[in-house]
Parts: sequence; structure tokens; C-alpha cells
Amino acid sequence: MKDILTAPFVLEMENTTANMYRLGWDERNGGNISYLLDEAEVKEYLDVSSVIREIPTGFDAPSLIGKYFIVTGTGKYFKNVKDDPETNLGIIRIKEDGKTAQLLWGYRDGGKFTSELPAHLMSHMARLSVDPENRVVIHSHPTYTLAMNFVHELDEKKFTHTLWEMCTECIVVFPDGVGILPWMLCGTNSIGEATASKMKEFRLVVWGMHGIYGAGKSLDETFGLIETVEKAAQIYMLTCHMPRVNTIKDSEMKELAEFFGVNYRKDFLNL
Ligand code: 13P
Ligand code: ZN
Repeated sequence: MKDILTAPFVLEMENTTANMYRLGWDERNGGNISYLLDEAEVKEYLDVSSVIREIPTGFDAPSLIGKYFIVTGTGKYFKNVKDDPETNLGIIRIKEDGKTAQLLWGYRDGGKFTSELPAHLMSHMARLSVDPENRVVIHSHPTYTLAMNFVHELDEKKFTHTLWEMCTECIVVFPDGVGILPWMLCGTNSIGEATASKMKEFRLVVWGMHGIYGAGKSLDETFGLIETVEKAAQIYMLTCHMPRVNTIKDSEMKELAEFFGVNYRKDFLNL
């Protein structure tokens, strides 16, 4: 059996959480990540017949039965993951009842998965139903995206359009746009269900006045989605109080989307 601390998926989680902390997106215990793993890959590092503990999830995830995830722990700080992955992360498998997480590694101090597990696993189910290659869900509190929530209308078309206008590459990176939920109580099954319903249509979902969710095939891709939104939001926040002299036109965004061959939300442009 290989050493789990050398597993690529553990190292990737360490690097991603460290980067997100370094960028100031994940203060204290802010943010959480879940990453769907291959059983064969997990078996190289763990005896998967040895369950440390069983933890009820509080919701039903029938299409995830038998699936393995590495998930950040609740109350854990992203800045500490690299120094102590076994306390701050856990590897779980969804039991046959669909409602129990079997802990195979991690949460060494008796802890458990993120309080946002409903939003994560329900989003995995929603994304997998439209993209079988989806593996990652990331939640974060990026500073400028959050700042923009307080000064920009929380309308999906208007918010996406503003972001697309801020960086030439935006419409190419997230042509499907950004879904938005109003402020809701976090950590609940209700916000999980609302997020998952948006995730059928969008890979990015803003939680009003709280943060953002991203979903993708890899940690890199998902991180890059949130990073691109955050860059656009930063430019918006640096310029929104000044007169706009130049802008990327809708006709130019259409030209970009067509040149790069992406399937963009045509109803989010004003043409
Ligand atoms: P957890 O510490 O439970 O992951 O919660 C952090 C967070 O960002 C809640 O939305
Ligand atoms: Zn949060």
C-alpha cells in the first residue's frame, strides 16, 4: 500500500487550499472543496474495507452510492491543510443507504466533513447528470466577487454581462454564465437543493452576499473558473465608481465566442 500523503489527490487538495488562502478568498474556515475520486486510485493508498466511522449526511444521495470523495473538514482552516492534511481533510464513501458517509481516512481529531456537504453532493449529482466527467465542487468567499454582490444587481443576465465585459476571455471561460441565488441560510439542505438546481444550467453559482460555487472536471479547471470571475469582479470594483470611457461591445463578445467555438448564453447579450 502506498503512503496516502503522497497521493496526487491529497497533494492537489493541499495546493489548491493553500492557493485559495494565499489569494485571501478563504478567511478562517471559509470555503470548502469536494473531489470525486476513482475507486481504483483510492485502493492504491487505503484498505477500503476498513471504515473508521460512519457519519449520517442528513440527505439522500442515491446516484452517489459507492462513490468516494475527498472533502475538506467543517471548521477547518484552508491555511492549515498543507501542514496537517489528515486532520483537515477526509476521504468518505457514500454507503448503500445513500444517507451515510463512511469515513476511510482523515478528520483525525474526530471532526467531520464540511457543513456544506448538502450543496456539494447535490451539486455533484446535478453536474454528473449533465456532464459525466464532472469531479470537483469548490465553494469560496472571493473578495471582489463578494464586494460586487453589494453594489451590483443580483440578476443572472446583468451580473454575467458585467463580468463578461470586464475581461476579454470571460465569455470564453464561462460561456454558460453565472447563476445567482438570493441570500439564503447556509449549511442547509434547502440551499443545497437550490444550488443543485442552478448547477444543471451553470458551472458557477453565486450565493448572494456569501460567496460562490464552482464545478468542473478537475481542481485546476474549477479553481480557474472562480479565479476568472474574481478577476473580472476586481476590475469591475476598481472601475465602477469612475466614468466608463471604453468597453468590450456585445458584438465583440459574440465574435470571441464564435471564434473560440463556445456555446454561450445568447440571451445574456443584447444584440
Ligand atoms: P465549513 O467550515 O463547514 O466548511 O463552512 C465554511 C463555509 O464557508 C460555510 O459556507
Ligand atoms: Zn461559505
